[in-house]
Amino acid sequence: PSTSVAIIGAGPAGLMLGHLLAQAGVPFTILEAQTREHVLGRIRAGVLEQGSVDLLAEHGLDADLRARGLTHRGIHLQFERERHHVDFVDLVGRTVTVYGQQALVAHLLAEHERLGSNVVFEAHDVQPVGVTGSRPTVVFTKDGAPEQLECDFVVGTDGYHGVCRRSIPADGIVGYERAYPFGWLGILADVPPSTDDLVYALHRDGFAMHSMRSPEVSRLYVQVAPGESIDDWSDARIWDALQTRLGVDGWTLEEGRITEKSITPMRSFVVSTMQHGRMFLAGDAGHIVPPTGAKGLNSALADVALLARAILEHRGGDHTGLERYSARALARQWKVQHFSQWMTEMLHVHQEVPDASARAFRYRSQVGQLEYVTGSQAARQSLAEQYAGLPFTP
Ligand code: FAD
Ligand code: DHB
Repeated sequence: PSTSVAIIGAGPAGLMLGHLLAQAGVPFTILEAQTREHVLGRIRAGVLEQGSVDLLAEHGLDADLRARGLTHRGIHLQFERERHHVDFVDLVGRTVTVYGQQALVAHLLAEHERLGSNVVFEAHDVQPVGVTGSRPTVVFTKDGAPEQLECDFVVGTDGYHGVCRRSIPADGIVGYERAYPFGWLGILADVPPSTDDLVYALHRDGFAMHSMRSPEVSRLYVQVAPGESIDDWSDARIWDALQTRLGVDGWTLEEGRITEKSITPMRSFVVSTMQHGRMFLAGDAGHIVPPTGAKGLNSALADVALLARAILEHRGGDHTGLERYSARALARQWKVQHFSQWMTEMLHVHQEVPDASARAFRYRSQVGQLEYVTGSQAARQSLAEQYAGLPFTP
């Protein structure tokens, strides 16, 4: 079989790219290693930038988002047991929307199923072949039988652990990486959120945040050490940490039944190029951010918006968009990388530093930074501009 665009990975990037191509009449096939149930069950990001919401709306993919998304004017930054609201509407005239990645993936997949798109689950041993030639092929096995898919382009939307980036020879790509001595323990709890807007809190014990998924479900995170085991975090210990770190006078954090809990390590990673011949990378396959700025999912959508437009222009005879895709995507991404690193360092505690005085110095300078950011109109506006999202297209 053959297609025009072979998309590897059915995360948000791959599923969204499929819709952008489908609407322009470009044939595509999505190959996904996992089962449909596995893809639908993954709980991850939660915040959509205005640009992501607009992209979904422009393409008629926002029905569920409009029904279930929670629009927010801004965020609360908390430190020294005080909360400071940063109002994006006042500062930059934009909002953000809390809408779980899980809901987005479910909606995009349901729409593909309605359209009868080619989405192959449990495609094993996927390998892009001959991408530096004129006619790439993707080989894989399905139900134990070898398959081949010829195409014009391969798009690697297969996430950080995917095969596409790793298939590029070492002299064709470099990865720039930074690991953090932090992890996030995230929970979902059956309890109405105790806050209107999201709370990002710096506390001496470490970072904590309060997000949500619906008027009935709260999503909360606490900073842990990266190697910690979830087995060491009983529900009571998690609520204790959240109560301590999120506590402010005259406010109560309501507790509820924890329905999901997991620990995610934190790293920053960016490739030197998002292109190898006729193969393009998009989303986590090309870059990872620590979650503090809520940028992972949004960056994946920004990449595929740019890439889809370039593929359509290429079919119309204009090749410049594809030639510039990697440079343009990376230029936006490095700004996002800086913001995510900045938010992360401002709000997390370096518990691994052995010297108590050095730790205290760092903590106090972070409080100074947060006092500056919340006290300065210019600094608040810069945060708002980046959190609500940089433009999707150059
Ligand atoms: P993915 O969602 O990773 O999708 C890649 C897809 O490719 C997967 O379905 C995978 O099964 C498939 N695949 C992988 N290898 C192959 C292969 N060889 N062959 C075929 N298919 C393959 N971001 C935030 O902003 N906030 C958060 O709170 C947050 N939490 C996160 C928690 C976790 C545990 C993780 C891993 C990420 C989190 N992120 C968060 C980041 C955000 O979820 C990602 O940026 C987003 O999922 C990127 O989408 P993607 O489509 O590029 O990649
Ligand atoms: C959520 C995740 C984030 O990384 C973030 O910065 C804000 C909210 C969430 O899962 O709701």
